[in-house]
Amino acid sequence: MKNVTCSLATTEKQISACYPLMYQLRPHLNQSEFIEQVICQQQSGYQILQAFRDKTLSGVAGFIIGHKLAWGKHMYVDDLITDIQQRSLGVGAIMLQWLEQNALQHGCGQLRLDSGVQRFAAHKFYLREGFVISSHHFAKSLPPSN
Ligand SMILES: CC(C)(COP(=O)(O)OP(=O)(O)OC[C@H]1O[C@@H](n2cnc3c(N)ncnc32)[C@H](O)[C@@H]1OP(=O)(O)O)[C@@H](O)C(=O)NCCC(=O)NCCS
Repeated sequence: MKNVTCSLATTEKQISACYPLMYQLRPHLNQSEFIEQVICQQQSGYQILQAFRDKTLSGVAGFIIGHKLAWGKHMYVDDLITDIQQRSLGVGAIMLQWLEQNALQHGCGQLRLDSGVQRFAAHKFYLREGFVISSHHFAKSLPPSN
């Protein structure tokens, strides 16, 4: 799609501009917590992709390149969201294409992500985009440490 362009959000102003979209996916974070958390995660290599449709910010994706014994060098997509007003226009597919190209350029052998069990529409999207359901993800909440 010619009217969608992707780039990395690198400045605090750009990251801050991603908040209203990221809030749609991560509503537990207020704006300052979001900025603080992104700056913290950047120390480990976290980055945010921003997708503009006709110059309007329409989608964002948080990701990190890492290594694991199980997966080798891979790109993990932490967060992927298209603005609720702009869905089914191909923005999500273009962000995934950008992420895949970036992963290839960095020598990653896999793209990986988790998606909540209730996100049936997103699962349909990922399957359409060539992902397979490869594992069950288990999680256990722990009491806060003092
Ligand atoms: C999943 C998501 C990123 C796809 O982005 P998108 O820009 O709509 O993607 P595309 O236009 O390339 O593909 C659209 C397809 O995604 C799927 N889809 C998933 N959720 C959808 C939604 N809420 N609205 C419309 N399509 C959705 C459909 O299969 C759709 O195909 P269709 O247009 O033929 O019906 C986007 O729908 C979204 O942000 N969903 C809510 C947040 C979310 O669940 N993120 C994934 C977290 S793991």
